[in-house]
Amino acid sequence: MANTMKMATLIATAALCMSSLLSLVYAGANINGYITGKVVCDPCINGGKPIKSAQMMVICFDKKTNDGTYARKGITNDVGVYKIAMKPGIEADYCEIRLHKNSPWKACKGIIPGKNVTTVNFNNKPVGLSNNKPVYAAADVIGYKKRRSLCN
Ligand SMILES: *[C@@H]1O[C@H](CO)[C@@H](O)[C@H](O)[C@H]1NC(C)=O
Repeated sequence: MANTMKMATLIATAALCMSSLLSLVYAGANINGYITGKVVCDPCINGGKPIKSAQMMVICFDKKTNDGTYARKGITNDVGVYKIAMKPGIEADYCEIRLHKNSPWKACKGIIPGKNVTTVNFNNKPVGLSNNKPVYAAADVIGYKKRRSLCN
């Protein structure tokens, strides 16, 4: 009984966390930059092979309060590259890019600890412009690995 209660509380808490995260998803038209990066299979083997249609999410937090400030999903193109719009102000926040769903590549879906998430440093020089707005590069390529891969 006590365990059932605990479980119910846990599930309710998880649901609450999820919904508060989702409520951060920004639908505004006010875009002042982009975050770009790459998702590959076996990133540690010759730079890896691009994964098309991989989903990831940029999630930002206020550096002082740790409150979530932004969340937005993205998807990779044919060459494994994603580009996600930023809302104004998040340059001051701590932002992570996390692999969001399972890999679309069935033979390459293993999680590589440390390569399933990266960050972006807005103090770095933008790598380019898009619609006249700065494009910032993610710190690392992220990705999945094949079953018997030596990529760890
Ligand atoms: C990344 O992988 C590690 C190890 O499996 C896991 O603990 C962590 O939750 C993952 N992080 C994300 C953002 O998926």
